[in-house]
Amino acid sequence: AAEIQNELTEVLVTEEQILAKLDEVAAQVALDYAGKNLLLVGVLKGAIMVMADFSRALPTVVPMDWMAVSSYGAGTKSSGVVQIRKDLDEDLHDRDVLIIEDIIDSGLTLSWLLENFESRGAKSVEVFALLRKPDAAKVQVDCKYVGFDIPNEFVVGYGLDYAERYRNLRDVAILAPHVYS
Ligand code: PRP
Ligand code: MN
Ligand code: MG
Repeated sequence: AAEIQNELTEVLVTEEQILAKLDEVAAQVALDYAGKNLLLVGVLKGAIMVMADFSRALPTVVPMDWMAVSSYGAGTKSSGVVQIRKDLDEDLHDRDVLIIEDIIDSGLTLSWLLENFESRGAKSVEVFALLRKPDAAKVQVDCKYVGFDIPNEFVVGYGLDYAERYRNLRDVAILAPHVYS
């Protein structure tokens, strides 16, 4: 929408680039998980768009579950405190879990989730993150599938928000600092 153009400084990843990448990762995941007990777990709310497009890029039907956690609230910095807002419905015992995330920023959310899921008896737990900020890492997260490494800027769109805004933008863009400073 034209009225939000001055709230964004630069488009970092276009919808077209995202969808091409999702096809690529889906083909790899289909090979890697052939014969396995795959369960996709989307991390609400940021992962809604990735989950919707990635799951439909897979060649077979696949079960999905959702976990809602939040560490950012309305700010641009992770609080480091991960809160469960909605727990899983599925039992993870003997499942090959693939966590679907929009972004790894500090890594705090995912490192907490990985530990949490492993403690529930999952057979395996891996991660697909569409975006990753290598320069923002506070903890290392073992991420099997990564879409794009991006610079350490606050980005929005394609599921990513600032104070619940911008999630429905089709591209991933850098938020102009005047919006949050
Ligand atoms: C964002 C994003 C990731 C997490 C990454 O979620 O969607 O889940 O932060 O940051 P980290 O690597 O520093 O932990 P947020 O907590 O904003 O909740 P949301 O998905 O509902 O927007
Ligand atoms: Mn999130
Ligand atoms: Mg958020």
